Amino acid sequence: MSAPDAAASLEDAPPRALPRIDYGAHPAYGGMFEPAKWLRRHAQATLEPILEEVRRGDRERLSAFGRARGQGTGISRELAAQGFSLRQLEPRALEPLSRAAAPLVRIIRARLDELAAAGLPLSFKAAQEVVDRAVHPELWTLAEDAMREAGLFEAAMDYAGAPGAKLKSAAVMVNRPGQAWCTDIFRGGDFETPPTVGFHIDSVVFSGLKLVLYLNDVDADQGPFGVIPASHLWEPESDGRAIRRAFDRWPYLSRGPNERRALVSLPPELQLKAEFGGDMPPEAPETLDLVAREHVATGPRGQLNAFVPEAIHRGGITRAGERQVMLLSIAARRAVVRAPERGAGEP
Ligand SMILES: [Fe+2]
Repeated sequence: MSAPDAAASLEDAPPRALPRIDYGAHPAYGGMFEPAKWLRRHAQATLEPILEEVRRGDRERLSAFGRARGQGTGISRELAAQGFSLRQLEPRALEPLSRAAAPLVRIIRARLDELAAAGLPLSFKAAQEVVDRAVHPELWTLAEDAMREAGLFEAAMDYAGAPGAKLKSAAVMVNRPGQAWCTDIFRGGDFETPPTVGFHIDSVVFSGLKLVLYLNDVDADQGPFGVIPASHLWEPESDGRAIRRAFDRWPYLSRGPNERRALVSLPPELQLKAEFGGDMPPEAPETLDLVAREHVATGPRGQLNAFVPEAIHRGGITRAGERQVMLLSIAARRAVVRAPERGAGEP
């Protein structure tokens, strides 16, 4: 289904809820571990301060920016209605940016080759190079210029109803088959990986937008960006969303045995994850419904996938070939900060 068709068919649809997983009945959770009273106390005591921090952050963000608007540019209108917007970067912006990112792509590829040769799983950390503005000023500036030219700064400002925006983060990533975080996610055991693996809402929410820029052509097997249209409007600003995001910063976040035992020991109302896709029952109607709703954004090199962090999304789940991307985020700012003029301070 194309993005506009998806948006049209969702117009009259009732608001939907984020998937809730019955962890007590899940074979890798309640099927293996009994909730323990002592662990319940510990699990709750470690989660609650994080949850309070997330709630406080949400209140501050709401009082600073209010609710998202998205009335102006085409991109921000799409972000407001669907939670995502797809654009194509012009060659004059893409080519220099791609050239500046190439050395980082080479570093990551060499690292992944080494891991594969040693028979080791490909870790998330190995697949990514964070772009530090001070270390790679040219790459950072080219990314900033490309985003500005593509209207993304304007879109972030309009979406958040803020007078300014800035590039918040940048990274280069290379995805290949055999990544540890999307295959054999329960680290052994006979558990089927569901077709929803990887679906999540972001744990770090900010007023602005995120971007996945394809540095090579990405087909269905190469781990295209996928998003559930309008899912940023499911349970908007609810406490359930705050719990999910707090869970993502919890020490028992992973799917190791101790962590799964800690999760089943929590009170059921706190058993909510931001990264829930891998825990959905493989054949359940809700699982199949979510997959059917996914907009799979296959596309050419230079495709710019913009989305809001609250939408359900995934990407980089590569079955064959390779995906090379730049991951960027643009944050709205309450005040306009004038960038120094080019050449200022030079003789
Ligand atoms: Fe994400």
